[in-house]
Amino acid sequence: MQRDATLDAAKMADIGKVALMQEPVAAVMSVMRARKFDGTFLIYDLGGGTFDIALAQSIAGQVSLLDHGGINMCGGRDFDRLLVDNLVIPWLLDHFDLPDNFTIDPQFKSLRRLAEWASEKAKIELFSKEEAVITIDEADVRMKDRSDKEIYLEIPLDRKAMDKLIQPRIAETVEATRDVLARTQLTTHGVDRIVFIGGPTQYKMLRDYVSFQLGLPADTQVDPMTAVAEGAALFAESIDWSSATRPRKSTRGSISTAGKFNLAFEFIARTLDSKARIVAKTDDSKVSGMHFQVESRDTGWSSGRLELKNGTTIDVLLSKNGDNTFQVFVWRIRLKRQTPEFMRNPILVVTGVVHSRSAGSG
Ligand SMILES: Nc1ncnc2c1ncn2[C@@H]1O[C@H](COP(=O)(O)OP(=O)(O)OP(=O)(O)O)[C@@H](O)[C@H]1O
Ligand SMILES: [Mg+2]
Repeated sequence: MQRDATLDAAKMADIGKVALMQEPVAAVMSVMRARKFDGTFLIYDLGGGTFDIALAQSIAGQVSLLDHGGINMCGGRDFDRLLVDNLVIPWLLDHFDLPDNFTIDPQFKSLRRLAEWASEKAKIELFSKEEAVITIDEADVRMKDRSDKEIYLEIPLDRKAMDKLIQPRIAETVEATRDVLARTQLTTHGVDRIVFIGGPTQYKMLRDYVSFQLGLPADTQVDPMTAVAEGAALFAESIDWSSATRPRKSTRGSISTAGKFNLAFEFIARTLDSKARIVAKTDDSKVSGMHFQVESRDTGWSSGRLELKNGTTIDVLLSKNGDNTFQVFVWRIRLKRQTPEFMRNPILVVTGVVHSRSAGSG
């Protein structure tokens, strides 16, 4: 139902061609962008309202989910609620003349929403500072208590107090993670990295605690807020959208010249690497005395002139994300007639494009 509703919404919004993918798979694709080796990853996604845990494996760039689990009502909003219930409500009852059940009293119940908003703000501040204040002034609350006193919030909060409140919930996420690992019969030895996704995982104390409890190193390359979007973008780029079956685009490229030379240059056309290897494929008897050179159209880099032989390889550096264009020049050099003019005119110039998805990433 959720999948169908998402596809329907995309259709109504006229977004065009849409494919759905699972968030942890997208996260792993983002991880793989910076990694050279396949692996098994534990994706710990703590969001606003839900906690999702997934085990995913990457094999030759194909990512598959091994298992997943989670907790439905566990996320940043729960942390806000814990602050409201345990700190803000008692503080309000202490400082103002309010009925005990004011959060369900029509006259005062909007206080709860304001308190959650202020608590979330203080919580986010505490992720980078030792102390914060849950605060809203009178002008923003615009409400009086039963003794006609203007209501405001000003509750100091430190990390220790917040950690104590949220700690049991984080421990629950570790338990849920252990459940998934036990179900797949994988010990943490079979897992390479834990990948943190979602707003609350920006909190270092949380990451350190979870990593320590599970005995797993954390991936430090991906941004917990953008990894899923980045992985989805990488996936979208890899699909041939023009075909109804939407296959993955080929990673191999080749430029060949029909005719008397029977020459081809084969290369990786789409890569996560920052360089692409170009291999000459020839029939040596037909190209004797020929030379070639590869030049980057983007950087002006040139390989220098090399003798053309079957299997000769040249690595071209890819200077940017997206299309990197290179040109191959071929000369025939007959030793007797070798003059500077003659050398300047190639008998063949061909152009190839390599699509890079990692050049320039840092
Ligand atoms: N810098 C930050 N530090 C700590 N928490 C943050 C930070 N920024 C956002 N949050 C919290 O992260 C939560 C939102 O996270 P996220 O954007 O990952 O959720 P979501 O993907 O929308 O929700 P879900 O995955 O549950 O559907 C909110 O509770 C917010 O308070
Ligand atoms: Mg989320």
